[in-house]
Amino acid sequence: MTQATAMIIGASSQLSQTLAKQFSEQNVELVLFVQNPESIKPLTDSLTTPVTVYPLAIEQPKQLIEQIETAWQTHNGAHLVIINTGLNGYDPALPWQLDEDIIDVNVKGFAAVANSVFKLLCEQGYGQLAAINSIAGLRGGPNVAYHASKAFAQSYLEGLSMHAQRLKLPVTISDIQLGLLDKAAMQGNKFWLPPIDKVASQIIKGLQKGKRKFYVTKRWRLVAWLTVGLPEFIYNTRHWKPKKKR
Ligand SMILES: NC(=O)c1ccc[n+]([C@@H]2O[C@H](COP(=O)([O-])OP(=O)(O)OC[C@H]3O[C@@H](n4cnc5c(N)ncnc54)[C@H](OP(=O)(O)O)[C@@H]3O)[C@@H](O)[C@H]2O)c1
Repeated sequence: MTQATAMIIGASSQLSQTLAKQFSEQNVELVLFVQNPESIKPLTDSLTTPVTVYPLAIEQPKQLIEQIETAWQTHNGAHLVIINTGLNGYDPALPWQLDEDIIDVNVKGFAAVANSVFKLLCEQGYGQLAAINSIAGLRGGPNVAYHASKAFAQSYLEGLSMHAQRLKLPVTISDIQLGLLDKAAMQGNKFWLPPIDKVASQIIKGLQKGKRKFYVTKRWRLVAWLTVGLPEFIYNTRHWKPKKKR
């Protein structure tokens, strides 16, 4: 492979599209997986490097693994694979359906991709597997299954990294701990809501440095540190609310 190739699994989100644009500007060939390939036509038309789009069946792990393996052979492997699929949702009634959907995408689908890509990278003998994860995985939270699924992803990636070291292969596993951008956006908080270009370029820089785990944007590292260290009676902000008078 003379030109670097990056695969993005879950390429429809704004962040994935910005990453694709920045990779293309750096002359990287792109292989994109997306639920509805037509939905990213404006993006693919605008890219200057070769780009191929495949459908993404994240809820059907067996089919998904076959799709990835086929694309891998067609493109003669890849230098970098980024997993950026994710489902989030909150309902105080805690319906099982919501949890099941989140587990299907964020746990089952995520593990199927990470497992198959890791083995393909090992066969290839080098490369990088990265996942856009969340600091939500550091503690439990009201979006119960989402927080738990991000803890799963963090642990899974650490385990794969251990396997790469055991095999003494130059296969890098990167856990990108993204801040809670949606929450910052909802609160209209510009301090915590960096421009998407900045988020993408920090991700690419961290990946190029081969970082095992890093926070984007960097200031979320402090929040992560505090989140882990706080005792539950402070972390759980519901304890802060004054009790209703009878
Ligand atoms: N946004 C935030 O504030 C934030 C903060 C921290 C971490 N993160 C993490 O960043 C990652 C991406 O989040 P995002 O906010 O960019 O989310 P997003 O815009 O909702 O994108 C999620 C991606 O997952 C795909 N996806 C979801 N369900 C799918 C399904 N059933 N089948 C196939 N594809 C499916 C989506 O495809 P479609 O568009 O085709 O549905 C999309 O490509 C997630 O892992 C998330 O946990 C996000």
